[in-house]
Amino acid sequence: MGQDITVLGIESSCDDTAAAILRGRSILSSVVADQTALHASYGGVVPEIAARAHAEKLDLCIESALDGAQLPLGAIDAIAVTAGPGLIGGVLSGVMMAKGLSVSTGKPMIGVNHLAGHALTPRLTDGMEYPYLILLVSGGHCQFLRVESPTAFTRLGSTIDDAPGEAFDKTARLLGLLQPGGPSVERRAEDGDETRFAFPRPLLDRPGCDLSFSGLKTALLRQRDQLVSDQGGLRAQDVNDLCAGFQAAVRDVLKEKSRRALAASQEITGFAVAGGVAANTTLRAALETLSREHGLPFVAPPLALCTDNAAMIAFAGAESLALTGADDLTLSARPRWPLDTRTPFTVGGGKKGAKA
Ligand code: KG4
Ligand code: ZN
Repeated sequence: MGQDITVLGIESSCDDTAAAILRGRSILSSVVADQTALHASYGGVVPEIAARAHAEKLDLCIESALDGAQLPLGAIDAIAVTAGPGLIGGVLSGVMMAKGLSVSTGKPMIGVNHLAGHALTPRLTDGMEYPYLILLVSGGHCQFLRVESPTAFTRLGSTIDDAPGEAFDKTARLLGLLQPGGPSVERRAEDGDETRFAFPRPLLDRPGCDLSFSGLKTALLRQRDQLVSDQGGLRAQDVNDLCAGFQAAVRDVLKEKSRRALAASQEITGFAVAGGVAANTTLRAALETLSREHGLPFVAPPLALCTDNAAMIAFAGAESLALTGADDLTLSARPRWPLDTRTPFTVGGGKKGAKA
């Protein structure tokens, strides 16, 4: 099943330029050039800046990945590249690079769905067997997927507005903390009291596994403004408590919706979480407890494989290649590319819902 082929993975769909070399489930090298500093002064990822940086860094990352694996380009058996969903300029840079490498080396190329990369990571790290349930939580996505094969996914629910990572990032911005917001908020929450402020738990009153995070951000904004008008400013402890309260609300919502998704999933081998927000220790612990209550193995990949990387793209590429064969030069970059095209999104679902 393509387990021993050596694959070059390329990832450039958001703000990380990444390349990796994978053989079977062994990561021979994994290079990530992050663009945080380039976007820092804008308070978010600027697509044009991201695309330019990808175009500048891709060949350097690939060279560095080959050096790290101590392999020449000729030793690669296949090239896997993120073909969507994501920012079109960045995805195009990666796809054009993969096409060039494929033509010049004669090696097969396969386009990979970025979300499939995240969703298959528990197989790469822990050899999880199909089918399993995964909660995908990142800066642009939030969904529950029953993973049935490298190309078959059933979506059980998704966010109808913001993704949790986006909410963490906005929270950090509102509180004057550094981007990316997730790690900043988590750090401040460690010294905070999660019970001081009453944050809502959106959509828990509605059945099903759909989620919403935009109301949380509004609640935080109101609390912040209230404190500023009462005290004339925010104290360090206020920021800690706001972060702790916000993080606890995200944790509780994701835990309860995970409970429902587990109840709705049949014959799964385990439960996993992936995507950038899965780096959150409090969330991981809550989901692990839940999984244990259901008697299911729980997998949360190591932090470096939860955030964007190219090893997951190489792995998903190897799995898909064995199942569906290679793509040809008509492979196109897809800014939108839902993993499950059969299950309709909730009517009224927000921008991220339709994208994911
Ligand atoms: O998967 P990812 O690297 O990129 C995509 O969105 O595809 O996820 C990045 C997101 C950011 O919004 C970041 O704030 C969030 O993951 N994140 C975290 C943590 N580390 C990263 N959120 C909460 N807690 C963390 N420790
Ligand atoms: Zn991602």
